[in-house]
Amino acid sequence: MVHAQRRFRLGVLGSGKGSNFVAIADAIQAGRVPAEVAVVLSDVESAGILQHARQRGLAAQYLPPGRFRTKLDEVAEASYLQALREAEVDLVVLAGFMRILKGEFLRAFEGRVVNIHPSLLPSFPGLEAWRQALDYGAKVAGCTVHLVDQGIDTGPILAQRAVAVRDGDTAASLHERVQEAERDLYPQVIGALARGEIQVHGRLTRGFRPPAVTE
Ligand code: GRF
Repeated sequence: MVHAQRRFRLGVLGSGKGSNFVAIADAIQAGRVPAEVAVVLSDVESAGILQHARQRGLAAQYLPPGRFRTKLDEVAEASYLQALREAEVDLVVLAGFMRILKGEFLRAFEGRVVNIHPSLLPSFPGLEAWRQALDYGAKVAGCTVHLVDQGIDTGPILAQRAVAVRDGDTAASLHERVQEAERDLYPQVIGALARGEIQVHGRLTRGFRPPAVTE
């Protein structure tokens, strides 16, 4: 008997509307990313990302984050780990997950957690990075896909996309264009990871170089 080849399995974590998740799921469906979404987890019961996943017939679960505001408590961390292990996840994809992941979680999935951040790191880590760029007067904004390490937005960079800041941009208009770039870039990076195309040597990564500028 011929067994279907096992596909690369994604565990997607998000707290928000889920536009990055939708872009990833669409890219999988279109055959551009050789992976499958094994499970979607959220710390926000009403999050759009859970609704999008359920509409697509994917496993989606709300897991309470516990007693802290910006991270998971120990009980919650264990429940996230268990759900990801049960789903036999190869890669944890953070898609707007608003909690910092720490020690045990990162040790369990070392080098296998990716995030997308709405700035050209190392500029503007932290919250509302597109607004930080605008308020600072930067002329180029953008987004970064990186591996997650113990710091905040500090892990090895896998890919970046620059977005020009225009005269008259508001935080909302710039955010929209940065998110457009994210929805294009993130699925490409996940595809490259699923194909095993990216090599990581400390901070330096090789093997994958998508266009760095929105044309
Ligand atoms: C994205 O803009 C990403 O940069 C940040 O969180 C946002 C999530 O948006 N990490 P969405 O839920 O994917 O629409």
